Parts: sequence; structure tokens; C-alpha cells
Amino acid sequence: MKRLAGNVAVITGGAGDIGRATAKLFAQEGAFVVLVDRDEASLKRVVAGLGSDAVSYVVGDVTSEAQVRGFVEATLARHGRIDTLFCNAGTEGIAAPVVDYPLEVFERVFAVNVTGVMLSMKYGLPVMQKQGSGSVIIASSIAGLRAVPLFSAYVASKHAVIGLMRSAVLETASTGVRINTIHPSPITGRMMSSIEEGAAPGAGAAVRAQTEAGIPAGRYGEPGEVAQLVLFLASDESRFCTGGTYPVDGGMSAT
Ligand SMILES: NC(=O)c1ccc[n+]([C@@H]2O[C@H](COP(=O)([O-])OP(=O)(O)OC[C@H]3O[C@@H](n4cnc5c(N)ncnc54)[C@H](O)[C@@H]3O)[C@@H](O)[C@H]2O)c1
Repeated sequence: MKRLAGNVAVITGGAGDIGRATAKLFAQEGAFVVLVDRDEASLKRVVAGLGSDAVSYVVGDVTSEAQVRGFVEATLARHGRIDTLFCNAGTEGIAAPVVDYPLEVFERVFAVNVTGVMLSMKYGLPVMQKQGSGSVIIASSIAGLRAVPLFSAYVASKHAVIGLMRSAVLETASTGVRINTIHPSPITGRMMSSIEEGAAPGAGAAVRAQTEAGIPAGRYGEPGEVAQLVLFLASDESRFCTGGTYPVDGGMSAT
């Protein structure tokens, strides 16, 4: 029996590394997947690469209320329900100390990483409450549990979604809807390459080596390893799990 047979899943940030790996695993496990991202060309490439009739896309920006309403409505028109909402769209901002951090970048990071999650829940939760079931999984980060220098906007935004999740849990737990955050350590892919280069231009490899030395498992995670946790939280195996903060971090949060 497939673990997500018939499940309808929306994945925001679906053209990125973790979104793509999750879509692949979800489709293998029997889900219908709707990927949401800002850029149609990337979405087309990702859907073609996955080669599954169960995966489709809607172009949408999670910071736009009208576009969030639009992708929720498009999913309902296509599949009639939403069982899983993976709020995964995110942006890292830039590397700068608080005293030099540009306000417009700070606000942009919050718009995507916090307001984007709020809007996705604002339109996704009523659908799930009407169904009497559903699982929302929010991509926070190890940076939601502890700090790193130079990335205050990212760190603050990833802490903020824990509060958002907890408030929403108290409003929905009796309705059959579940909401949890996940907290990956650095994961191989575009975002970490950008963070490494931002922290030390031209010396990204040294930053990676230093970061890996701070992870008890001694390495970055892979997008597919994050996807396995998302799969558990989307599946009925986690039916009593709500309001939780789940690391997937090679032991990093234990340090
Ligand atoms: N990569 C890591 O090391 C890591 C670690 C912990 C947490 N995370 C979190 O996991 C999530 C996915 O990260 P990733 O590694 O796949 O990064 P990524 O950059 O590969 O993917 C992020 C995706 O989000 C999309 N996006 C950005 N702004 C958007 C918007 N306004 N509307 C719609 N889509 C938008 C981007 O276009 C991109 O496709 C993010 O929330 C990230 O903060 C990543």
C-alpha cells in the first residue's frame, strides 16, 4: 500500500531543491502534487523532469494574497481537496550584520518566509477544516531553533513561523487539521551555495567545510532526507502529531 495513496498535496517553493525532492517522493507514494512557484519556466522544467502525470503546477507568489487564493482555488478545481500543504517557499536574504542590514531585504525575507506561510494557511486551513482533515508542514530551519551570525532576517523569520504554527494549532487542533514545523540543518543545494558565497565571497568551500564540522553527522543533509520527514508528517502515520517542531539535522540541534 502506498503511504499517500490519493492524497492531494500542494508544495510551495516547488521548483526548489527540497520541493522537487518532496514532489518526487510524494508521487512515488501515490499522491497528486501541485507545485507552486514564481517562475513558470522552472516549474515546467521540474514537472518535465519528474515525468509523472500526478504532478502539475500553478504559477504563484506566496506573498500575494490574490495569488495564494488563486493556487488554492486552482488545486480545488483540479483535484477537489487539499490533504497536505507544504509551506516550503523560502528565501535566505543576504549576509550582513544587523547594523548594516538593508530594510528592504529584511522586509522581503519576512514577506516570503512569514507572510507567505500565514497567507498559505489563511486560505489552506479552511479547506482542510471543511474536510475535517489535513496536514500543514512548514519549512522552518535549524535557524528557527538557534542563531547564526549575519543572517538575522532569515533566523528571525524561521523563529517566527514556530509562533505562527503554534497559534494556528490552538485554533485548529479539534478540527482534525494538523500543523507542524520542520527544521533542516544545511542541505546540499542552491540555498546553501548562496549562503556560503554570501558569508565569504570566493571561499564558499571553506565555509561549507567549517559548517559541516559543526554538524555531528559530519555532513550536509540531502533534499531527499528532508522529504522523508515531510512524507511522515503528511501521512496517516503521524495522525496524532500536531504542534511539533521536528529537526532533520544530523544532530545539529543537540549541540
Ligand atoms: N537548503 C537548506 O539548507 C535549508 C535548510 C533549512 C531550511 N530550509 C528551508 O527549506 C525551504 C526550501 O529550501 P530549498 O533548499 O529547496 O531552497 P531553494 O532556493 O532551492 O527553493 C526555494 C524555492 O522557493 C521559491 N520561492 C521564493 N520566493 C517565493 C515566493 N514569493 N513565492 C513562491 N515561491 C517562492 C524559489 O523560487 C525556490 O524555487 C525554504 O523555506 C528554506 O528556508 C532550507
